[in-house]
Order: sequence, then C-alpha cells, then structure tokens
Amino acid sequence: MIFGIGTDIIEVGRMEKHLEKNDALMKKLYTETEQKYCGKGKVTRYQCFAARFAAKEAFFKALGTGYRFGMAFHEIEVLNDELGKPYIVPHGKVKEYLEEQKISSIHLSISHVKEMANAFVVLEK
Ligand SMILES: CC(C)(COP(=O)(O)OP(=O)(O)OC[C@H]1O[C@@H](n2cnc3c(N)ncnc32)[C@H](O)[C@@H]1OP(=O)(O)O)[C@@H](O)C(=O)NCCC(=O)NCCS
Repeated sequence: MIFGIGTDIIEVGRMEKHLEKNDALMKKLYTETEQKYCGKGKVTRYQCFAARFAAKEAFFKALGTGYRFGMAFHEIEVLNDELGKPYIVPHGKVKEYLEEQKISSIHLSISHVKEMANAFVVLEK
C-alpha cells in the first residue's frame, strides 16, 4: 500500500551559491559518501548535490511531515547501486520514524540538467 508520494525541484545555481558560501551546510545536508559521489563529476557536481537535496525534500513530502520531529537532512542518505539507480538509506531519527510508521519500502527517481534538478519519492507501507 502506498503511504505517500513526494516530489521536489531545485535550481542548481542556487544550491551552488549556498554550498559555496557555507562550509557547514555541506556536512549538515550530505553524508561523506554522498559528497564523494557528487565530487566525482566536476561539471555535474552541483547538479548532483541539488538532485540529492531535492530527493531529501521529496522524501519529507512523501512522509507528510515535512522537515520536523528532529529529523535531519543528512539522515536521508542517497546512494546509487552498481547500475547507477539511486536509493535512500535512512539513518537516526528518520529511520526510527519510518519504523514507527511501518514503512517498508522507499522508491526514488532523480533527474538533472544544467539548471534544474528534480526528484520523486514513493513510500510503501
Ligand atoms: C539512467 C538514464 C536513464 C539516466 O537518464 P539521463 O537523461 O541520462 O539523466 P538524468 O539526469 O535524467 O538522470 C540521472 C540520474 O539517473 C539515475 N539513474 C542512473 N542509472 C539509473 C538506473 N539504472 N536506474 C534508475 N535510475 C538511474 C541517477 O539517479 C542519476 O543521477 P545521479 O547520478 O546524480 O544519482 C540513462 O543515462 C541510461 O539509460 N543510462 C544507462 C545507459 C548506459 O550507460 N548503458 C551502457 C551500455 S550502452
């Protein structure tokens, strides 16, 4: 059964501006693995970060809570499998909340171009 869906779209340039002028933001939003993955693409670096931010926002929308209850952006980790397919690994308070709500699966799709990044999340119970 579908618990919720969420989508988000982000301007890559805005994400770049925020991350460039605020070192702490990088750690607040992204895990080390996410930073390493996005760091690999010199040209697409900020598209990648923007897409991951969109994924985290889309996740909060699918949850129906938005960003609250002490859940942090870096607790929603976006990884990619060996074929490049993205998936979310929840940590900390986010993981606890998913367990409380009995959510069994998280589905994620990501897309990005030069100016914009977009993500779509489906949660199943
Ligand atoms: C996956 C694919 C559909 C992406 O489409 P695109 O228009 O190039 O790029 P988009 O910006 O829309 O999407 C990029 C995102 O697709 C997602 N993606 C990559 N591989 C994926 C897969 N196997 N399944 C689902 N999603 C995938 C990733 O999230 C990626 O962004 P990220 O690297 O920041 O996580 C396309 O590149 C493709 O089919 N690639 C595989 C083809 C290939 O390499 N074949 C090799 C043999 S010819």
